[in-house]
This record gives sequence, C-alpha cells and structure tokens, in this order.
Amino acid sequence: MESNILIFVFHIFLFFQLRPSSAQDLVRAGYYQCSENHTDVSDINSSLFTHLISGFAAINSTTYQLSLLSSEKCFSIFTDTVKQKNPSVITLLSIGNENANYSIFVSMVSNSFYRKSFIDSSIQVARLYGFQGLDLFGLYPNTVSHMSSMGILFEEWRDAIQLEAKNSSRSELIFTTGVYYSTSIPSGSTYPVDSIRQYLDWVHVVASEYSIPGKYQYTGVNAALYDPAGVKNTNYGIREWINAGLSANKLVLLLPFYGYEWTLVNSKDNSIGAPAAGPANKTTNGHLTYKMIKDEIERHGPNVQVIYNETYVVNYFTIGTSWINFDDVEAIRAKVSYAKEKGLLGYVAWQVSYDDNCVLSEAAASEAHINNSSAQEDNRKSQNKRIFLVILLPTTAAVILLLGIILIFYCWRRKLILNGNGYVSPEYVRKGTYSTKSDVYSFGVLLLQIISGKRISLLCGLNESLSLPDYVS
Ligand SMILES: *[C@@H]1O[C@H](CO)[C@@H](O)[C@H](O)[C@H]1NC(C)=O
Ligand SMILES: *[C@@H]1O[C@H](CO)[C@@H](O)[C@H](O)[C@H]1NC(C)=O
Ligand SMILES: *[C@@H]1O[C@H](CO)[C@@H](O)[C@H](O)[C@H]1NC(C)=O
Ligand SMILES: *[C@@H]1O[C@H](CO)[C@@H](O)[C@H](O)[C@H]1NC(C)=O
Ligand SMILES: *[C@@H]1O[C@H](CO)[C@@H](O)[C@H](O)[C@H]1NC(C)=O
Ligand SMILES: *[C@@H]1O[C@H](CO)[C@@H](O)[C@H](O)[C@H]1NC(C)=O
Ligand SMILES: *[C@@H]1O[C@H](CO)[C@@H](O)[C@H](O)[C@H]1NC(C)=O
Ligand SMILES: *[C@@H]1O[C@H](CO)[C@@H](O)[C@H](O)[C@H]1NC(C)=O
Ligand SMILES: *[C@@H]1O[C@H](CO)[C@@H](O)[C@H](O)[C@H]1NC(C)=O
Repeated sequence: MESNILIFVFHIFLFFQLRPSSAQDLVRAGYYQCSENHTDVSDINSSLFTHLISGFAAINSTTYQLSLLSSEKCFSIFTDTVKQKNPSVITLLSIGNENANYSIFVSMVSNSFYRKSFIDSSIQVARLYGFQGLDLFGLYPNTVSHMSSMGILFEEWRDAIQLEAKNSSRSELIFTTGVYYSTSIPSGSTYPVDSIRQYLDWVHVVASEYSIPGKYQYTGVNAALYDPAGVKNTNYGIREWINAGLSANKLVLLLPFYGYEWTLVNSKDNSIGAPAAGPANKTTNGHLTYKMIKDEIERHGPNVQVIYNETYVVNYFTIGTSWINFDDVEAIRAKVSYAKEKGLLGYVAWQVSYDDNCVLSEAAASEAHINNSSAQEDNRKSQNKRIFLVILLPTTAAVILLLGIILIFYCWRRKLILNGNGYVSPEYVRKGTYSTKSDVYSFGVLLLQIISGKRISLLCGLNESLSLPDYVS
C-alpha cells in the first residue's frame, strides 16, 4: 500500500520533470568548411547557432580510417574557437562532401572490417578534437545494395557510439547525416528509412540543387520551397520523408546561403522558366555565394531590382543577360517559418562563411525566435501550468503519503498493543510466551474468519480499534 503510493508519487514527479517543454528551440545549425587557411574560424558569430558542423574529413583508401588531410590544424582548433563566443554551441565533425571518394566509401561500407576501422577512428578523432558529434555528408549510394550497406553502417556506428559513451562515461556523440531532398535518389534507390529513424539523431535535408545552369535549357530555381509544376521542391521532399516514416522532428532543413548565375537567351525574357544558355561561368557552373551576390548587386547600384517570388520562395534579379537566383532575407525567413510550421527540428546553413556580415544567419535566427503571438501565449500559459503542477502535485502527494503512513502506523500499534496481532495470540505479543495455546488461538481466528467472511482486522473503520476476535466477542 505505502509502496504503491510512493511509486505513484514518483511517477507523477517524473512525468512532469521529463516532459519536454512545448516551446522547444529550433536547431539552428551551420556548416563550416575547414581548410588549410583557418583564419576565419574566429570570425564565425557562434551565438547565432546552436550547432556548428565542421567539414570535411576524408576516408583513407588503404586503412579506411578518417583522414583530416591538410585541414587537421583547423579541425583541432575549431571547437575551442567557436566556444569562445558561445560556450553552449555544440560542434560536429563532418565526413565526406568534396572529400568524399565514392569508390572508397563503397569499399568501406561493403566490408565489416573496414566499417569497424572507419567507425572506431571517426569516434577517436571526434573525441581527440573535442567534437560532440559526427556527420556524414554528400554520399548518395546509388544502388540498392549500397543503400542497405549504409543502413548497416548506421546501426554499427550507433552501437559503437553507445558503447564508447558507456566506456568513457561521457555523453553520447550526436550522429547525423546529410540526405537527398527526397527519399528516393535519381538512380532509383531508396534510403533505409528504418535504419535512419532508429540510429540517427536527425538528417540534414539537402533542399537545394533542384535546377542548376549546366543541366537545363530554361532558368529554374536552385532551392524552391514550392513548385506548382513539379516535384523538384522542398515541400514535396519533406512530405516524402514524413510519409516514408521519418518524423518531422528528425528533419533539419538546409538553407542555401548561395545561388546560381544563368545566362539568358534574351535579356528581356527574364522570368522563372525563361530560355537559358547555360551558366554564366563555366568553371564554377554559375555557383555564387551570398556574399558574392550582394557584392554584385552593390557593384551595379540602385538599378538592380531584386524580385521576391512568393510562389517558389526565391529571390532573383537580372543584369543584362545574367540571371541570378538565390535566397535573400525574405526566402530564408519564409523557410524558417515553414520549418516551424511543419514541426521540423530546425535548419542548417550551407555554409556559414558564404554569408554577408551575418545577414542571413541573423534573419534565420530571429525568425526562429519570432513572436508568433498566439503560440507564445500558449507557451507561456502551458509553462506556468507546468511549473504549478510540478511544485503542487508532488507536494500534495507527499503530504497525503505522510499522513497515510502515520495513520497506518498508529492503527497497527493500537491493534498490536490492545488486541494482539491477528492470528498471533495476545499472550505472545505481550509477554513473548509461546505454547500450544497459541496454535489453538490462531486456528480459532482462522475459523472465525471463515465463518464471518470478514477480514482479520478492520482497518480504522467504524470499529477501528477492533480486531476480528474482539469484534466477534
Ligand atoms: C590565409 O589567409 C590570410 C588572410 O586572408 C592570408 O593573409 C594568408 O596569406 C593565408 N594563408 C595561406 C597559407 O593561404
Ligand atoms: C553576434 O550575434 C549576436 C546575436 O545576433 C549579436 O548580438 C552580436 O553583436 C554578434 N556579434 C558580432 C561580433 O557580430
Ligand atoms: C592512408 O594511410 C596510410 C597508413 O597510415 C598512409 O601511409 C597513407 O599516406 C594514407 N593515405 C592518404 C591518402 O592519406
Ligand atoms: C578515389 O579513390 C580511388 C582509390 O584510391 C582512386 O583510384 C580514384 O582516383 C579516386 N577518385 C577520385 C575522384 O578522387
Ligand atoms: C569498452 O569496455 C569493454 C570492457 O570494459 C571493452 O571490452 C571494450 O573494448 C571497450 N570498448 C571500447 C569501444 O572502448
Ligand atoms: C569564373 O570563376 C572562376 C573561379 O571563381 C574565376 O577565376 C573566373 O575569373 C570566372 N570567370 C569569369 C568570366 O567571371
Ligand atoms: C512567380 O513566378 C512565376 C513564374 O514566372 C509566376 O507565374 C508567378 O506568378 C510568380 N509569383 C509571384 C507571387 O510573383
Ligand atoms: C515581435 O516582437 C518585436 C519586439 O519584441 C516586434 O518588433 C515585432 O514586430 C514582433 N513581430 C511579430 C511578428 O509579432
Ligand atoms: C503560430 O503558432 C500556431 C500554433 O503553434 C501555428 O499553428 C501557426 O502556424 C503559427 N504561425 C506562424 C506564422 O508561424
């Protein structure tokens, strides 16, 4: 009885303590590309981010261990440096992207010894340089068997991460990966969604590269949130992921801090979908960082008119036959607002250093915190209610419990002293003498119980001081 009450109180307490606050903050992450020249790590305004992901490590082709190449110095100072401005920022080490060699990756995932070598070294390197998580980026297995091998890699990786955390008594490394915008990649293979759901903390949804100048004859949008005419858009991909069984709160939306410069066939025909003649710059395929784009706008002065198209959620402008589409403040804000509305876990900037004086990082962060008055009011109310319940309920329960215990103890003592203890004869209780009479007494009580159908003692009821023998007599 007492222990039941205790367990009950404990559960109430746990329930209110552990329930996550409904006003959960978005993950505000950003990728940063480490290079030999790491002078600008200290320029990152880390207070705008909750997570910073430093990339990109490679995989050694003979040992399958992690290789930091010439960027080792940058990786080694990264965590300490960004924590100076924001001690609570969490850092992850990312593997892949431009340092990903697909054939090495495939050999690694297809062999259990190589997988182990890779996994163990990734954890070791992450710990060595103070990273709190690991990320795999830019590897899109293009066959069914490579996809399923990747599912196995995820499982073994998580197992190793858990084991290492136990062994070292440190908190588990966060484990994430970058994925294509939808669950099926163009080669026809489909992500191992079950494995992702079970073993990864979240995925970075690469919601860009929908339309790039080298590939299409008509201008298109790099990172359309919506597209009335097709499936190459973020909203479609997010729906696919959710329908495939990954919950929204495991999805982190990539925000492109870059755009593409196309060459128009006719400078007057400059809408989305106008005839185009490839990238403006063949070397880069027209890729421009946000900073470069802002510089370009500034160079051309007030004649440049940047259009925001709400249908696609994109900004674009034309200079002569140059057509540049990108995410300016409006598009970034709309996407963060979308992430909140759909219950996504957060966003990740690609990349932090593409920004121009933190304009986009700040816009995203402020949109993340924006005062949606109705939501805020709800949050405040539920917060107050929670505090109230957390304090009041356990206190009340504890008082009830205490009173109950006192009462039970009181009754029990009275019974023991006045009437003996149930089947045990009063003689034995009072004097400690034991004889065959005691057995007779016990048997008598048992008989009375059978005949009367009453419990052996009436616990503090109307006849509170009476045990069954007294009641009968
Ligand atoms: C690194 O960048 C700084 C400033 O941009 C420059 O002065 C320096 O020469 C660069 N170092 C290397 C090795 O490129
Ligand atoms: C970094 O961002 C925060 C939050 O927006 C701002 O208060 C601070 O001034 C910024 N720091 C620098 C050095 O830009
Ligand atoms: C791979 O590791 C081996 C053994 O440590 C080393 O000799 C080799 O240089 C590494 N290769 C690369 C590309 O880093
Ligand atoms: C990938 O690695 C293999 C084996 O080391 C090498 O032969 C190949 O050239 C590399 N591919 C690229 C694109 O670097
Ligand atoms: C963890 O500890 C166990 C036993 O203490 C040991 O066998 C195992 O190798 C350790 N694993 C790691 C990843 O350190
Ligand atoms: C194209 O981009 C490359 C690399 O950024 C640059 O060196 C070159 O000057 C650009 N060409 C033109 C025509 O702008
Ligand atoms: C966005 O662009 C498309 C294609 O040019 C056009 O049909 C649509 O009306 C535009 N939407 C807005 C809100 O301007
Ligand atoms: C949010 O609050 C700030 C001031 O706290 C105000 O300037 C801004 O207009 C508000 N935004 C919305 C969408 O309510
Ligand atoms: C405001 O919050 C409510 C409740 O959480 C949500 O339904 C609504 O979509 C939000 N509006 C915006 C503009 O974020």
